[in-house]
Amino acid sequence: MQHTQYRFSAKTVDIYFDAEFSYAEKLVDKEKIIVITDENVASLHADKFPGYKKIVLKPGEEYKQQVTVDDIIKQLIELRADRQSFILGVGGGVVTDIAGYAASVYMRGIKFGFVPTSILAMVDAAIGGKNGVDVGIYKNLVGVTRHPEFLIYDYSFLQTLPAEEWINGFAEIVKHACIKDAAMFGLLENNSLEDFKQSKEKISELVKRNVDIKLGVVAQDEFETGDRKLLNFGHTLGHAIENIYKLPHGSAISIGMVAAGSISEEVNNFPSDEKKKIVDLLKKYQLPVELVFDKEKVWEVLMMDKKRSGDTMNFILLDKIGDGIVKPISLDTLKELFNRVL
Ligand SMILES: NC(=O)c1ccc[n+]([C@@H]2O[C@H](COP(=O)([O-])OP(=O)(O)OC[C@H]3O[C@@H](n4cnc5c(N)ncnc54)[C@H](O)[C@@H]3O)[C@@H](O)[C@H]2O)c1
Repeated sequence: MQHTQYRFSAKTVDIYFDAEFSYAEKLVDKEKIIVITDENVASLHADKFPGYKKIVLKPGEEYKQQVTVDDIIKQLIELRADRQSFILGVGGGVVTDIAGYAASVYMRGIKFGFVPTSILAMVDAAIGGKNGVDVGIYKNLVGVTRHPEFLIYDYSFLQTLPAEEWINGFAEIVKHACIKDAAMFGLLENNSLEDFKQSKEKISELVKRNVDIKLGVVAQDEFETGDRKLLNFGHTLGHAIENIYKLPHGSAISIGMVAAGSISEEVNNFPSDEKKKIVDLLKKYQLPVELVFDKEKVWEVLMMDKKRSGDTMNFILLDKIGDGIVKPISLDTLKELFNRVL
């Protein structure tokens, strides 16, 4: 096991890489723990949490809505949860987003920790302190920023992760490579999804590298005034199409990254051979790179994006692979590009 600490202004987060789920009992009194998980993880890994108090959610993004949080709160009351209770979110990004949010509003905030079980949650969703829910089709419109006490990385969960969820998670890994780490982009080019699936050493190194990238960015810019926005590369169009077309998050982000690459070519002299490298890498990791979509409908959703500020959108572009930048683009220019380039 490897223990690392990340310091933020309000809290220090402990991360235990290569640990076992049961380590949670060394960190918190088991009697105080309430596990929040989903039906898939609960049934496939029932042996990992015997005797724990549990709240089991229906799996899937469609349940990442306020009504699920209200239901969790009812169950917390039935379990007589108090301010000493500890919520442990065990699952993919949907579970960790909901669990962190529910823990942050129950009794104005009780402590929580995460055991991320999907690649996407391990490298992205469970870290950084953002937790929340969708409102209808609007992604992550409601939520809080609050860090967990700790994260436990138990890679044995990945043995049951479906193939499409491995693919999904790699979209965020490619994103990190595009905005911050050209060397990791090369590493991904020189390996395949199978290589990472088959080697615990390779996947644990890759996960840790991605946690370092994300938390490095977040620690430097906790309140999202600058660099943290880079983590939204591919997410402007991605979020808009994700819920309209019920796409997996990774697929939507993959298509969004290609779109952001095209816009980077147009307004930022991003070399077209580098854009092609991104498309090739996404294809190599079995991610989709295009989608025919209803431009009017998607534009309407884009207007509710949290990165819009008045009549400009803070768009994430690339200077080159490994170097992302934030650039305000006027909505008029964006609309023209949107209609012509995408
Ligand atoms: N808070 C953030 O900063 C942040 C960042 C990125 C993404 N997200 C959110 O994360 C969510 C996507 O995360 P996700 O793809 O992990 O979604 P998810 O939680 O829906 O998990 C995907 C599927 O995999 C299943 N699963 C998870 N772990 C498993 C395992 N070990 N074995 C078998 N099945 C398993 C789940 O039951 C689900 O069916 C989106 O809602 C997105 O908005 C949040």
